Order: sequence, then C-alpha cells, then structure tokens
Amino acid sequence: MKSPESIYISSIGCYVPKKIVTNDDLAQTVDTSDEWIHSHTGIRERRIADTEEECSDLAVKAVLDLFAKDAGHKEGIDGIVVATATADHYGFPSTACIVAEKLGIKGAAALDIGAGCTGFIYALEVARAMILSGSMTKALVIGAEKLSNVVNWKDRNTCVLFGDGAGCVLLEKTEERKGIIDSTLHAEGSGSLALAITKESRTITMEGRAVYNFAVRAIGDTVLELLRRNDLSIDKIKWIVPHQANKRIINACSKRYGFKAETFYMNIDRYANTSAASIPIALAEMEEKSLLKAGQYILFVGFGAGLTYGGTLIQW
Ligand code: UT7
Repeated sequence: MKSPESIYISSIGCYVPKKIVTNDDLAQTVDTSDEWIHSHTGIRERRIADTEEECSDLAVKAVLDLFAKDAGHKEGIDGIVVATATADHYGFPSTACIVAEKLGIKGAAALDIGAGCTGFIYALEVARAMILSGSMTKALVIGAEKLSNVVNWKDRNTCVLFGDGAGCVLLEKTEERKGIIDSTLHAEGSGSLALAITKESRTITMEGRAVYNFAVRAIGDTVLELLRRNDLSIDKIKWIVPHQANKRIINACSKRYGFKAETFYMNIDRYANTSAASIPIALAEMEEKSLLKAGQYILFVGFGAGLTYGGTLIQW
C-alpha cells in the first residue's frame, strides 16, 4: 500500500577500529579467562580505538562507509542524530555537531541522544518523528561509542564486556514501502544506578545480575508489545536484531518467551557490547551478508542504562 507518510532506512554504514583485543589478551591484565568470558557472555574478542580516535571519528568513518555505497546519499541531509554515552566532550558541543563539521554538512539540525544502550532505538524514533513533523527530510541516525574511554580496565566484572565501534543509517521518506511501522520507548528510572558512569567513578559500574534479569524481561515484553499493537505473530518476524550485550540474555529470553533463538541476529562474539552502536553494526553486517530482503518484518530491540528499553518494527 502506498503511504506518503512512510519513513525507511535507505542505506547503512559501519566502522569498527582495527585493533582486536581477545579474551586471552585481557587475561594477561585481569583475573579472567577466555573460558569464563565466552561461557558467560558469548564474547571472544572486541575492537578498541586508538587513543586519538574519538567517538566522533568512529561516527564519521561509519558515515563515510555509508556514503561509499552511493555518493548521492550525502545530498540533502538536513538532520544528524547521534546516540552515544561517550561523547567527545563533556556536556557540549554535541558529537552530532562535530560529526556535521567533519563531514562538511552545513546547516543541518544536529543533536545527541543519551539513552544508554537503547540510544539507537531512541535516536531512530526521534529522527522519524522529526521527519514526519517536517523538521527534517533526510536524516543520518548514528550509534557511536568509544567505551574504552569509560571502562575500568582493572574491574574484571565490566572490562571484559565492552568494545568500541559505530554504525549508522540514513532515514528518508518513501511512497514505495512501509519502512518503519511502529516504535516503542520506555524507561524505569528506579534502576538508574544499576548501570551507570557516576561522577565519582567516571567509569562504568554495573549490577550485572540485576541488569541481566531486567534485559531478559525488557526484550521479551518489547517484542510482545510491538507484535500485539500491530496484530502480528512472532512467526511473521524474519529477524530480531537485539542490542548485543550477552548471548545468554538472548538464550534465556528465547526460552522464557518461546521465541526461536535463530530469529535473533548475533555478532557479539567479535565486537562485544558496543552500546548504542551494536544494533546498526549488526544491521550493516546483515546487509553485507544479503540477509535483509524487501518485505521482511524486522524488529530492533534495545535495553540498557536508564534503565531504558524499546523497539522498532520495520517492514524492510
Ligand atoms: O549493555 C547494557 C546492559 N548490560 C548487560 O546487559 C549486562 C547484563 N549482565 C550480564 O551480562 C551478566 O550478569 C554478566 C556477564 C555481567 C555476569 O555474568 P553472571 O553469570 O551474572 O555472573 P555473576 O555476576 O553472578 O558472577 C559470577 C562470578 C563472581 O564470582 P563469585 O562472587 O561467585 O566468586 C564474579 O566475581 O563470576 C565472577 N566474575 C568473573 N570471573 C572471571 C565476574 N566477572 C568475571 C570475569 N572473569 N571477567
């Protein structure tokens, strides 16, 4: 059905730093092992940015990957929304403004979204709503994180979990397909200290088990909410692209809610948890593998600091 109001993802890009840090590498500096990390999380290795490579650099490289697919993509961009918890600067200027400057995109609206690992889902909805309202017509939505800047490298409970990277999508109007059908965003502020970068620590602190239990529920409830609201059953969904935090969270969710484990696309083994960047990085990889086909129903699901959670339903 033709709908002038549809917003779709017209292109995808990603960038991960070259430097690979394996579980065995980490076992040289903290009391851990490849066996523990892999069996508890599914992670084998992560990418870590150079000292001089900031969050905005990762974001810019992801966008350049997107532009490399079609130079025409750069034309007419009038919105840049960056989801990040690891902005180049404390407070301001926003990473989105720096990205705009580095890419030579003049006069576009540029803003950062802070919703932890759910940031990309929030950013996607903010950009979609702004396009629908007429504030933007063509927007870059970027998830970019240099988590290595905020990891306590002496804390084995957290340092093994995270990695650096960036992914992005281009959002535009279409009359040819449905694109983004629905979106849901939530927050439970009562859990705000379960996962935080506090003023005192300036590094990530986490109550792992509490966040784990929340995550299993958040993913399941988000999927069910989007299915119910759109009169769909789970067997109609080709892919669920979850925030990549822990393979065991996904397995537990599949078991508890009766979702097929193979519906979830996972790449946590190679990149670990890249927070707001994990969903667009996964998406770029899926496109590269030709897994995304027109007409498929796809769900993105995010969860994380806040505690926030949410999802996006798309017909590709
Ligand atoms: O991106 C946003 C959200 N973040 C998440 O979703 C993370 C959610 N939480 C998790 O993924 C899991 O809770 C963890 C992977 C963080 C931890 O797994 P767990 O099965 O919940 O382990 P645990 O916290 O219950 O710890 C079990 C044991 C502890 O030892 P004791 O106290 O039982 O002797 C930890 O000290 O494992 C120990 N441990 C480790 N051992 C070796 C914790 N980290 C490590 C480590 N290597 N890296």
